Amino acid sequence: MPNLGHRPGRRVFIETYGCQMNLADSELMGGILGTQGYTAAPNHDEADVILINTCAVRERAEERVFGRLSHLLQYKHARPEVLLGVTGCMAERLRETITERAPYVDLVVGPDAYRRLPELLAEAQTVDSDPVVDVKLDREETYRGLSPAREPGIKGWITVQRGCDKFCTFCIVPFVRGRERGVAPDEILRQARDLADRGYKEVTLLGQTVNSYRHEDTDFADLLQLLVGVDGLERIRFTSPYPTDFTPKLIEVMAGHDKICNYLHLPLQSGSDSVLEAMKRLYTTGEFRDLVGQIREAVPKMAMSTDIIVGFPGETDEDFEATLSMLQEIRFDFAYLFKYSERDGTYAARKLPDEIPEAVKKERLKRLIEAQEEISAEIFKAHVGQTMKVMVEGESRRDEQDLCGRTDTFKTVVFPRPTTDHIKPGDFVEVIVEDATSHTLLGRLVS
Ligand code: 5AD
Repeated sequence: MPNLGHRPGRRVFIETYGCQMNLADSELMGGILGTQGYTAAPNHDEADVILINTCAVRERAEERVFGRLSHLLQYKHARPEVLLGVTGCMAERLRETITERAPYVDLVVGPDAYRRLPELLAEAQTVDSDPVVDVKLDREETYRGLSPAREPGIKGWITVQRGCDKFCTFCIVPFVRGRERGVAPDEILRQARDLADRGYKEVTLLGQTVNSYRHEDTDFADLLQLLVGVDGLERIRFTSPYPTDFTPKLIEVMAGHDKICNYLHLPLQSGSDSVLEAMKRLYTTGEFRDLVGQIREAVPKMAMSTDIIVGFPGETDEDFEATLSMLQEIRFDFAYLFKYSERDGTYAARKLPDEIPEAVKKERLKRLIEAQEEISAEIFKAHVGQTMKVMVEGESRRDEQDLCGRTDTFKTVVFPRPTTDHIKPGDFVEVIVEDATSHTLLGRLVS
C-alpha cells in the first residue's frame, strides 16, 4: 500500500441518499477507509471527513443533495481542515455541476472508484483549490475481497451485481453505474458466512436487475441455492428482479426453500404496452401478467410490490387508465409510485420530449396512490385473525412500549412488549394480528 500521508485515526461521517445499494456502498466505503485507519465519526461535528453518498435517479434526489451540501458547508467554516466529498451516482453524472454549484466540495468520487478513496482523500488534503475527481467507470470492479463496515445487527446487504445493462429509456443508472457485473460466488459466500458468524439472521442480495446475475457458470438460481446452505442465515431476500429474467429454475428454487422469503419487488413501470415499449422494458403487460401468475402458482403466499412511473413521454389518458386497471388487477401488497423525471443523457431525454404537464402527472400519481392505498388496506386487513411468524427488529418507532418486526412477506408487525419475556432483535415470535392499517399489522404475542 502506498504511504497515504494521512494521520491515522481520522474520522469519517457518511450520509447516504437513495437506494439500498447506496446504503451498501456506504458500508463498503466505511470498510475501505477502515483498513486505512479511519474510524466512523458519531456525528458531523466530530468528523474530519464528511462524505455524501448520492442518488441520481430523479431530479428531486439531486436537488436535495445540493441543499444538503450548502448546509454541510458550515462544518468546513467551523473547521477548515474538514474534507467534504460527494460520492455515488450524482458524482458520476454531475461532476461539473457539483464543482460549479458547490465549489467548496473537496472530492467527487464515482461508484467504481471507492477502492481509491484513501488515496483520493490524501490528495484532497494536499490540494487547496480544485476538487479531486475520480469518476472512472470500471467494467471489472466488483470490490472483491473487501469487507463492508457493518454495524452489529440482524439484517445485512450483500451487493451481488453492480451496474446495469438494461438501458430502460427513462433510467440514468447504466450511465452512472456502468456495465453489469456479477460478483464472484465465493466472494458472496464469504460475506454471507461473515454475516452469519456475526449473528445476522437476514441477508438481502442487491443488484439493479438482480436475477440477471451471472458469474461464469453460476446464475441467480444457483447463487440462491448456495446461500440457502449458509447456516445461521434464516431469511434470504433479494432486490430488484427484472421481469424477463425469471427462469423456471429460479421460480422452483424460490418455491423450494423456506429461507427464501415470500416477497418480491417486481417493477411493472407501466400497464400500457405502448408505454412499456417506449420505456424499452422488454415485456408486454400480458407477459408480466403471466409471470405473476406463474409465481403465484408456485408460491401462493408470495407478497409483491412494484414500481410505477406516471407521465412518461407520450402516456395518454388511456395508457394511464390501463396502468390503473393493471394495478387493480394484480393487487400488489404495496407500490412505489413516481412521476417521470427527465434525466439528461438517457434515450428518453434525447428523443422523447417530457411534455406531459406537471398538473397531469400529479393528478395521475394521486389517483394511483389512492387506488393502491385502498388495495393495501384490504390486503393488510385480510390478515386480521391470522398468526404470523415475525422476526423481531426492535422497538417500535411510535411507542417504546411496543416492539416491531417483519413477516417473511415483508410486512411490518407491531405488538406490545411483554413485561416478563426478554425478547431481542433477531428472535422469531408468533403474533396474532388484531388490526391493520394500509402499511402495518398490529397484534399481540401468542403466548
Ligand atoms: N423518473 C421517475 N422515476 C424513475 N425511476 C427510475 N428512473 C426514473 C425517472 N427518470 C423509478 C423506476 C425505478 C425506481 C427505482 O425509480 O420506477 O424502478
